[in-house]
Amino acid sequence: MSSFQKRVFSGVQPTGTLHLGNYLGAIKNFVELQKEFECIYCVVDQHAITVEQNPAELRSNTLEVLASFIAAGVDYKKQIIFQQSSVAEHSQLAWVFNCVSRIGWLNRMTQFKDKAGKNKENVSVGLMVYPNLMAADILAYLATHVPVGDDQKQHLELSRDIAQKFNNDFKVDFFPLPEPLIYGNATRVMSLRDGTKKMSKSDASEFSRILLTDSDDDISSKIKKAKSDSDLIPDNKDQLQNKPECLNLINILSACSNESIEKTLVSYAGKEYSKLKNDLADKLIQVIGPIRTEILNLLNNKDELNKVLDMGSEKASTIAGPILKEVYKIVGFR
Ligand code: TYM
Repeated sequence: MSSFQKRVFSGVQPTGTLHLGNYLGAIKNFVELQKEFECIYCVVDQHAITVEQNPAELRSNTLEVLASFIAAGVDYKKQIIFQQSSVAEHSQLAWVFNCVSRIGWLNRMTQFKDKAGKNKENVSVGLMVYPNLMAADILAYLATHVPVGDDQKQHLELSRDIAQKFNNDFKVDFFPLPEPLIYGNATRVMSLRDGTKKMSKSDASEFSRILLTDSDDDISSKIKKAKSDSDLIPDNKDQLQNKPECLNLINILSACSNESIEKTLVSYAGKEYSKLKNDLADKLIQVIGPIRTEILNLLNNKDELNKVLDMGSEKASTIAGPILKEVYKIVGFR
C-alpha cells in the first residue's frame, strides 16, 4: 500500500438535488480532504443510467451536482472534478473488471438486493454490475482513499476484492486496495420522518430530507415537522437506542457544529426537543444557506460549468489513460 501515491477518488450520482446526507456523509469530507490529498471527484452519470433517467434531467442534474461540489468548497482549479461518461477509461476498465469480479460477489450486494427487490429478473444488467464500474472509477486512477457515506461500505469492500483478485490472477502488485474513508458524526443521515430509513433522494416524502437548495423557510419547516419525542432529551446515547429519529437529529446537529455527540448531549440533556430543533434549524440555515446561494449562482452560468467539466475530463484522462494501457498490457491485449 505504501508504495502507492496517496490519492482520493469519490463519485456522486446526478439523480436529483443533493441532500444533507450527501453533504454530511460525503461532500463535507471531500472539501476537508483537499488540504491533505490530491483529489478526484466525479459526477457518475453512467451509474445513474442503471435505472431509467430522463435525458434532459440527467444533463441538468449533472451540472447541479458539479455546482454543489464547487459551492460546498471543492477547488476545481486545484483538484479534478469531471463527468464519468466523458472519460472512456471508466467503462473500458469496468469491462476488464466484469471479467475479474464474480457473480456470487455481486449477488451478495445489499444495495442491489434492495433496488432489485422482487423484480430481480427484470432490472438492468448495469444495476447488477454497478459495483464493478465503481471499482473501475476508483482504480482507473490507482486511488488509495475513498470518502463515502456508510451505505457505500460494501461496494468498497468489493472494489478491494476486485483489486486483490486482479493482482493475484496476474501475479502483479498493480492496484492498491482502496481504503474507505467513512467518518464524521453523520456517516448515515436518516430520514426526518422515519429514523430507520436513510435519507434518500428517492423517498416519496419531501419532508424526509433537507436539500442543498432548500430555502431557509423550507429548512425551518422540515425540521419543525421532523419526527421526535415528547420526553426530555437524555444525557447519554444508550437511552436513544429505540428513538432513531431523536438520535438522528442529535447526530446532524453534532456534525454541523463539529462537536462530538457526547458534547451535544451534555448541552441538551433535560431540555425539550423543540429547543434542539430550533437550534438545529438555525445551524442548518447557517451551513446550507451560503451553499444554496452559490449553487443557484453557479447554475446561472452553465457555459462556465461545462468548461469546468471539460477541463476536468482532460486532466482525468491524462491520469487514467496510461493506467489503462498498463492494465491492457497486463491482461495480454497487446
Ligand atoms: P450516491 O450518489 O448515492 O451518494 C453520494 C454520496 O453520498 C453518501 N450518502 C449518504 N451519506 C450519509 N447519509 C446518507 N443518508 C447518504 N446518502 C448518500 C453516499 O454514501 C455517497 O458517498 N455508488 C455511489 C457513487 C459512486 C462512487 C464511485 C463513490 C460511483 N462510483 C466511486 C465512491 C467511489 C453512489 O451511488 O453514491
